[in-house]
Amino acid sequence: MEEILDNKNWFEAWFDTPYYHLLYKNRNAKEASFFINNLIDYLSPPENAFLLDACCGKGRHALYMNQLGFSVDAFDLSANNIKHAKQYENNKLYFFENDIRQPLNQQKYNIVFNLFTSFGYFDNEEDNIQSIKALSDSLKQEGVLVIDFLNAQKAIETMVSKEEKKVDDLTFKIKRKVKDGFIVKQISFEDNGRKFSFEEKVKALYQKDFINYFNLARLKLIKVAGDYQLNDFDIHLSDRLILFAKK
Ligand SMILES: C[S@@+](CC[C@H](N)C(=O)[O-])C[C@H]1O[C@@H](n2cnc3c(N)ncnc32)[C@H](O)[C@@H]1O
Repeated sequence: MEEILDNKNWFEAWFDTPYYHLLYKNRNAKEASFFINNLIDYLSPPENAFLLDACCGKGRHALYMNQLGFSVDAFDLSANNIKHAKQYENNKLYFFENDIRQPLNQQKYNIVFNLFTSFGYFDNEEDNIQSIKALSDSLKQEGVLVIDFLNAQKAIETMVSKEEKKVDDLTFKIKRKVKDGFIVKQISFEDNGRKFSFEEKVKALYQKDFINYFNLARLKLIKVAGDYQLNDFDIHLSDRLILFAKK
């Protein structure tokens, strides 16, 4: 098996490849606009609100927030994602490379978004805490942090341990397991005769874990939703764990 890690952390390598975007191609602009419409309806920020999308990927949510008229900054660790997203920039939309643990010093935002399981990648708890503190630092007083995480309980209860998924010309062989408190997904495939193998490793974090992080970052949980329509969270039925925390 060929590994393209070059001593990088899995999340530095995998999300920077075109293969991540192929495997998750259903996580598209349509899903993003549906979710953002519901979030903006609920949060009703003022017209002149300044929004931040932390771990924005190629920018599907940030782009739509900007299309709604908001000023939006968005960052991601992946250089390729940011390079792609920069084509959409305008005077109210700016993309830049940054690590979620790194506080942003200048700007403060009305709402900070962290969407589609862009959290829980670090082995070390200190890094998770540092990330939430950095996001909290970027908020204006009374600002809201929105974290869209997986529902670990349901993900584990309904886990399919082996699966093949054909997307366009590629067949992804996927294995899933829970190991040391992490939900691990091993992804292998062949492209043009080359063999690839990647791993996703997301910490099984629950509402109580996020409440602990929020307490440490002086944030207060104000709402929990379970899907992109913002229906109530149900630990056995909901696909998502969407947390709203106020500064
Ligand atoms: C599951 S993707 C979601 C991307 C985007 N939010 C979306 O919904 O399309 C997770 C994103 O987090 C980014 N990421 C991973 N680790 C990061 C870190 N330490 N700091 C900033 N971004 C990170 C990845 O590069 C990737 O784009």
